[in-house]
Amino acid sequence: MAKHTVVSMPGDGIGNQVLPESIRVLKAVGFDAEYIHADIGWDCWCQQGNALPDRTIELLTKHKLGLFGAITSKPNKEAQAELKPELRGKGYVYYSPIVTMRQRFNLDICQRPCIGFIGNPLNYIRKRTDGGFDEPKIDTTIFRQGTEGMYAGIEWTNPPDNVRAALNSHPKFKNFSNIPGPDLAVSCRIITRPAAKRIVTAAFEYAKKRGFKGVTICEKPNVVRETSGMMEETAKEVAKNYPGIALWSTNIDAQLMWLNKNPEEYNVIVASNLFGDILSDAFAGLVGGLGFAASGNIGDDVAVFEPTHGSAPKYAELNPPIVNPIAMILSAAMMVDHVGERDKGDRIRNAVAAVVKEGKVRTYDMMRISGGAKSISQGAASTVQMTDAILAKLK
Ligand code: NAI
Ligand code: MG
Repeated sequence: MAKHTVVSMPGDGIGNQVLPESIRVLKAVGFDAEYIHADIGWDCWCQQGNALPDRTIELLTKHKLGLFGAITSKPNKEAQAELKPELRGKGYVYYSPIVTMRQRFNLDICQRPCIGFIGNPLNYIRKRTDGGFDEPKIDTTIFRQGTEGMYAGIEWTNPPDNVRAALNSHPKFKNFSNIPGPDLAVSCRIITRPAAKRIVTAAFEYAKKRGFKGVTICEKPNVVRETSGMMEETAKEVAKNYPGIALWSTNIDAQLMWLNKNPEEYNVIVASNLFGDILSDAFAGLVGGLGFAASGNIGDDVAVFEPTHGSAPKYAELNPPIVNPIAMILSAAMMVDHVGERDKGDRIRNAVAAVVKEGKVRTYDMMRISGGAKSISQGAASTVQMTDAILAKLK
């Protein structure tokens, strides 16, 4: 019997192209696992009115480890129109299966490494005053709270009377009290102390393991006093348990400016859900973008690893596939780290680093050309060729 059972959820579009490539790499590195396919995404919604089927939930509950490709999601109107005719008008509502999965399994630690590989033509460079260029080595991991904050899903347009009454009890609501219900939208930003403590602790533990000298909490406590305030206060409490590691504090707006000035100075950043989402995309853009952006959604019990890109429908039908499998492969490497086999995770990352550094095999995104059927004839590697190159460098 294999040591691990991995629930494999390719999902939609290019998820189906990149996920099998990551399994090829896992097999080659000697990760002892069997893979069980599970459905997720748009087809499930259209056929069953549920993008995250019960069988997938059961498999994750049982096996606790998931690899996920990407899904397609669409606005409510289109979601209703594409639902199988028998299911229309029966009250089915589309929910993002990723958000649902995070909430269902309390996958509250969302870890997103943005680590530059030497030789990647997409890396951030900075102009020097002497006219030359620096290419700082960026090694930043964002710890994004995954279940609360602005994505808790507690929101209304035209809030019911009891919610309206509660809002009216706040002195600052006076300015809005005359707005008619249909013209009023409210999203609640919820932070709880236990979850704040878990995400900050995860960030400090990572800093300790990797030998980094500081952790940055990135919020906006001067304006969003209660929720960002609780994040920052919790970070100060947790920091006391890590005497060798400094706690730095930045505001989300200023941080986005600084990431264009001195991104190499931030190794570990922790933030609430929306801010962490923004930060991780911004940092990912400095180290190669969506083709390189890996992530893990980690709970106490279950963990799911996925590239942060979506299903890229415009490339989904191309044969051969052209998208970059590296984000998916790096996500698989995070899964390997997670189960305590970091040596294998390192071997995967080293193989990716060797391919990028050599620079002979590059997918279209790494060549800065537009993607399409023509990419291959312009010299871009296909998805499979990129994986082959990584396999050839595996030691
Ligand atoms: P996307 O990430 O699917 O694609 C945006 C663009 O990024 C692509 O057109 C392509 O140019 C590039 N790209 C993405 N992945 C790449 C890769 N591996 N290699 C090279 N280039 C890559 O985002 P988009 O177009 O906004 O959304 C498409 C669908 O995906 C939508 O239905 C959206 O809701 C969904 N989505 C799903 C996510 C997930 O499953 N985690 C995340 C983001 C979007
Ligand atoms: Mg995002």
